[in-house]
Amino acid sequence: MAKFLVKGGRLLEGEIEINGSKNAALPVLASSLLFKEKIEIENLPNIEDTKRMKELIGKLGADGKIDYEIAKKFRASILPVGGVIARFGKAAFPHPGGCVIGERPIDVFLDGWKAMGAKTELSEGAPTGYVIAAPEGLSGADYTFKIPSVTGTEALMMTAVLAKGTTILRNAVLEPEIKYLADFLNANGAKISGAGTATIKIEGRSGKLLEYGAPFTAPPDRIEAGSFAIMGALLGKNLRIKNFVAEELPTFLALLSNVGAEYVLEDNVLIFKDAHKKTLRASNVTTKEFPGFPTDLQAPFTILLTQAEGQSLVHETVFEGRLNYIQDLNKMGSRITLCDPHRAIIYGPAKLSGRAMASPDIRAGLAFIIAGLIAEGESAIENIYQIDRGYERIDERLRNIGADIKRI
Ligand code: EPZ
Repeated sequence: MAKFLVKGGRLLEGEIEINGSKNAALPVLASSLLFKEKIEIENLPNIEDTKRMKELIGKLGADGKIDYEIAKKFRASILPVGGVIARFGKAAFPHPGGCVIGERPIDVFLDGWKAMGAKTELSEGAPTGYVIAAPEGLSGADYTFKIPSVTGTEALMMTAVLAKGTTILRNAVLEPEIKYLADFLNANGAKISGAGTATIKIEGRSGKLLEYGAPFTAPPDRIEAGSFAIMGALLGKNLRIKNFVAEELPTFLALLSNVGAEYVLEDNVLIFKDAHKKTLRASNVTTKEFPGFPTDLQAPFTILLTQAEGQSLVHETVFEGRLNYIQDLNKMGSRITLCDPHRAIIYGPAKLSGRAMASPDIRAGLAFIIAGLIAEGESAIENIYQIDRGYERIDERLRNIGADIKRI
């Protein structure tokens, strides 16, 4: 099994470019089901999750069956279900897999499809699966999310595009990925308004598939952007991060300034000149839906806080299992008290030492790389499939800016 060996102590210098966004590309890949013909995506990140999505869609037939083995590997496997039900009137799929960061139910999806006229049954046998059918077709609905969900909003939006009549989705999330998907679908004939606000209106096409005309260009990945910025704040010496879209990380940047990290933004290039010399101060962080602090940057930011002077509180409000990596971090030398599944207190600064650990999920895996880069000695990170799910050739790209990281 491949692993990363990371040696600490090197400063990061030079230029690194942010790749195409995973979470913007995945729903657009899934939306190909709404089209008559093939769609084109530019700047698609070549990562394990986009490969899995392509495999999943490639295996789909008119029976609406989603491949169980592939779907178990990533949560976004639920995204194509939205189009499958709308197109074939039925879908069979397992409870989606993916990062083990909490319970991750799918009730808001099922409630939404039910509101549009579909019936769901649990399939027999293991693993747990669902069979959805809408023999009389799907009709537009006025649906309010009891919990705002990113992929829930995306999946229901896709179903509504092919349904009959108008759908209104209320308490939708405001994440930029929603607007990217809506803009792409609108450029190809869909009628969606309000994406990026809490109320989205979709005029359904009564089963008429979209005709492909305009390609999608995946925007820079805002989570990769934030992760590189954290590396810059810790180790940057004339580090330039290209394609940085500040408007997509407002709270993150406010907190980065609050901890005392020094950066300048020049025409979408985020520059850390002598950041490694700065003393960082503690700060409290609460994860929230957009435009709040993204839960996907919580683990990397916690690594930054281990180096800040004073006591920081990290409050993870989105997922209940997303502080699981802290035990390993404490074994590296951090001083973090886990109060409950949602809150951790970090006492800093702490000296970290390299050790062996396994990546629990995409973002905590990247956080371990950052920890390894600032630690004394060598860290060995296993289960790097998790990291490769979200970051393309991360070892090679970090080596280019001076990091000591090897894939063995
Ligand atoms: C998306 O996951 C992202 N994935 C996640 O990124 C991200 O962490 C998350 O949004 C929050 O920003 C993709 O875009 C592919 P949610 P998603 O449904 O849609 C609860 C990464 O590392 N909920 O918005 O699955 C849920 O348990 C990944 O790139 C229900 O209760 O997240 C959570 O507490 C990890 N019932 C909250 O809502 C449901 O039916 C928000 O989750 C659905 C969700």
